[in-house]
Amino acid sequence: MIVAVVKETFPGERRVALVPTLVPALLKAGLEVRVETGAGQAAGFPDQQYADKGANIAAGRDDVLAADVILRVRAAGANRKADEDEPGRYRSGQVVIGMCDPLDQPAAIQPLAQAGITLFALELLPRITRAQSMDVLSSMATVSGYRAVLLAAQTLPRMFPMLMTAAGTVTPAKVFIVGAGVAGLQAIATAKRLGAVVSAYDVRPVVKEQCESVGAKFIELALDTAQAEGKGGYAQAMGEEFYARQREMMTRVVAEHDVVITTAVIPGKKAPVLITAEMVAGMAPGSVIIDLAAERGGNCELTRPDETVVHEGVTILGPTNLPAGAPYHASQMYAKNVTTFLLHLLADGRVKIDRQDEIVAETLLALGGRVVHPRICELLGVQPPVAAPEETTKGEVPANEANGSAAGDSDMYGIQSDKKQ
Ligand code: NAI
Repeated sequence: MIVAVVKETFPGERRVALVPTLVPALLKAGLEVRVETGAGQAAGFPDQQYADKGANIAAGRDDVLAADVILRVRAAGANRKADEDEPGRYRSGQVVIGMCDPLDQPAAIQPLAQAGITLFALELLPRITRAQSMDVLSSMATVSGYRAVLLAAQTLPRMFPMLMTAAGTVTPAKVFIVGAGVAGLQAIATAKRLGAVVSAYDVRPVVKEQCESVGAKFIELALDTAQAEGKGGYAQAMGEEFYARQREMMTRVVAEHDVVITTAVIPGKKAPVLITAEMVAGMAPGSVIIDLAAERGGNCELTRPDETVVHEGVTILGPTNLPAGAPYHASQMYAKNVTTFLLHLLADGRVKIDRQDEIVAETLLALGGRVVHPRICELLGVQPPVAAPEETTKGEVPANEANGSAAGDSDMYGIQSDKKQ
């Protein structure tokens, strides 16, 4: 079975889905690894490093796209700005694994499903212990939180640390992190390392201790957050009345800080607006807001994705692809996640799709020519296909069926190495 890694085409994307050090793990599993020339270049991984580890370097994109399994950083909805006819380039029966942005861009799944692609979205991995080493959201949020602080530090006209010098004392920057999930906690730790005084708030009360353990003061707001935590440890949408009260209570806190980094998102929903234009105007001139929820509509009402907005002397940045700014380590982490996921799918060197497995069931978007993920079907307004009882048992169909045109409704099939190219 051939696994291929393509050069990403999304504007500004510098990450790559596989790094050279992970090639041997795939070879050991009986796979052949094919890498598009230059795929890792922007992340700091030249072709030769992949070749040294046993990968084949393919000059033509068509050679790469002929493989059985394609590993991508961005596929489907996550690749929508790229200048490529993505569905038209893949072939029926091929397995594509990557980030797909399915909850925000469900319509982008359909053409790939119709092209007969077996598509997996890594963003939908369940947050369970077994899947921790595959969790791309955590990996990329770690990089984002770190990069957000660096961006803020560079934009702020002040320094972060307290300095006592012969030329006088420099007071430390005051940083407020709103949303202390993976990105928020990493932002706290990074700002703290740079010497800032850090405060944080999250609607999930359980994170108070986590914030304190990485060096932030947890801001208590008199809000009823008993219902704030939903399924899988994620926050759930709270209703406009709650957010209005949150804004009111945060106004003073925001005004007291030089930097505000917001990361508050609700999976599959528009991000709550937590900072109004009026709140921005209340901040000191020169202050900086980094809105990590920009792609989901923004936590600040003035945020414009990937643009710099200056309002009453306050700079608001809404970067949408911070992990691409640290492509070496972002790729290293992503590659570890995607490789672990692929190895999890393999049995005897073949991809086996066992929809009884929670990891498979929650990430599988398209199979056999159809969108199969219930949540995505709901978003698309289509009925999810009903699996026949025999489809729910672990098994395989012959490779020629699996690799030919859309493989019927079967949930279980294997792909082996002697397929057509
Ligand atoms: P996320 O990116 O979905 O959200 C970021 C943060 O914003 C969350 O902490 C959320 O509570 C917060 N938030 C939402 N609305 C808010 C509001 N109105 N005001 C303030 N904060 C608000 O979350 P992320 O970082 O992906 O992870 C969320 C949680 O998932 C983690 O803290 C953890 O409990 C769980 N998790 C579990 C993992 C595992 O078991 N493998 C791995 C990673 C995360």
